Amino acid sequence: GPLRVLVFGAALRADSANARLAALVARLISDTGAAVHLAAMRDFDMPLYDGDMEATEGLPHGALALRDQLEQSDAFVISSPEYNASVPGVLKNAIDWVSRVRPQPFKTKNAMLLSASPSLVGGNRGLWALRMPLEHLGTRVYPDMFSLAHSYQAFAEDGTLVDPGLQQRLTETVSGFLSLVEADVRYVCLQRR
Ligand code: FNR
Repeated sequence: GPLRVLVFGAALRADSANARLAALVARLISDTGAAVHLAAMRDFDMPLYDGDMEATEGLPHGALALRDQLEQSDAFVISSPEYNASVPGVLKNAIDWVSRVRPQPFKTKNAMLLSASPSLVGGNRGLWALRMPLEHLGTRVYPDMFSLAHSYQAFAEDGTLVDPGLQQRLTETVSGFLSLVEADVRYVCLQRR
């Protein structure tokens, strides 16, 4: 069947530039014939990680929803804001909860990281921080990350990027990522025969 890709923005606010970037990438992936699930961080609403809660109640619904979405995908894409040069607490908290599941859902999954920020560097430092927990969990993080600067002026009405050069670079990054995922999924299928 077609590749299944989970895409979500990591900010909670409705007008999030990262949600817009996630929606744009979801469209680009969908254009290649892959099956895309575009999610929002609100779909994965969960309390702060608490070991006592885990011991008595298990994982909260939001964490289980993210676990389910990851399990149903061959790969995932996160568009995350940079908070104080690092990962937003909401996203780190979600990763921490989901990392408690066995089998561990982040392991051997391919991921592409995007960021959007009104700043000049587009939140790229936050992505380097995000690589750390994901790679620790065994996710194969695509080396080429895409960071969108001046995010409040970057989008056209139709949801694409105003700058055609940037739009092309984003399209090429997505296509490079998908080729890798496809080769990886095919390799795993051959091994299982
Ligand atoms: C920010 N912002 C920010 N931007 C940046 O480029 N580098 C940074 O270190 C930070 N730090 C930071 C901390 C906190 C607590 C907040 C709330 C914000 C600004 C941030 O990039 C901006 O709010 C974006 O618009 C957030 O992404 P969304 O919500 O548009 O997706």
